[in-house]
Amino acid sequence: MRKPIIAGNWKMNKTAAECRELITALAPKVKDAKCDVVVCVPFTDIALAAELTKGTNIAVGAQNIAWADNGAFTGEISAAMLNEAGATYVIIGHSERRQYFGETDKTVNARLVQALKNGFNPIVCVGEMLAEREGGKTETVCRTQVVGAFEGITAEDAAKVVIAYEPVWAIGTGKTATDEQANETIGYIRSVVKELYGAKIADGMRIQYGGSMNAKNVDGLMAQDQIDGGLIGGASLKPDDFAYIVNAAK
Ligand code: PGA
Repeated sequence: MRKPIIAGNWKMNKTAAECRELITALAPKVKDAKCDVVVCVPFTDIALAAELTKGTNIAVGAQNIAWADNGAFTGEISAAMLNEAGATYVIIGHSERRQYFGETDKTVNARLVQALKNGFNPIVCVGEMLAEREGGKTETVCRTQVVGAFEGITAEDAAKVVIAYEPVWAIGTGKTATDEQANETIGYIRSVVKELYGAKIADGMRIQYGGSMNAKNVDGLMAQDQIDGGLIGGASLKPDDFAYIVNAAK
C-alpha cells in the first residue's frame, strides 16, 4: 500500500506575512490527514514555514535546489541552506523551470543527485506539452524525462523519490486531465520505473498527478488505482480548498 502524498506548490506566491496567515489557517484543518502533507513555499518563506509547522503534520519543501554544494552560482540556493532553513522536501524539474529557466533532463538529474545525497525527499516533475499529447508523444516524452532524471541513481535512492506527473497543458489552465488520462499515463510512468528498477521499487513508488487539481476533481482522481496524490498549485493557496484536497486523499 502506498501512502498518498498531497503537496502544495505555492510557486511565486505569498510573502512572509501571507505565509503566516495561510499556514495558521491551514494547520488545524489538516491535522487528521491520512496522507503526507507538504507545502513547497518560496525560498524566503521556508524558515518561517518550518517554524509555523513545528509540531504539526505539515512538512515544508523548497521549489528547487542547486546541484553544487556552494560557489559562484548567482541566484541558486544550496542543499545546506535549504536544510538549515527547515525544508525536507524539494520539487525538481517543474515544467515552469523547464519552460522559462532552461531546466533540462541533465540539470534535473544533477539536482536530484544532490537532493538525495543531502537527505531530501525529492518530488520530480515530468509531463508533456499540449502539442506532444496531440501528436501521440505523451509516453515518449514521459519516458525520456524519467530515464533522464534517474540516470546513475541507485535503486535504494530511487525508492525515496516521488514523481509528479503534470501534463503541461493542465497546469494553471483549469483544464484537468481526465481521471482515465491521468491514471493511464501514471501507470505508464510506473512501468518505466519498473524497467529501470524492478517491480518492487515501481510498486512502492508514489506518483502524484498535478495540473488544475482542485476540490471538485480530487475525488475522481484519487479513486484511480495508479494515482498516489497530487501536486497542487492554485488550489494550495486557499486553506479551505487545499484542506479539502488533503482530507480527500486516503
Ligand atoms: P495548478 O499547478 O494546480 O495551478 O495547475 C500545479 C503545478 O504546477 O504544480
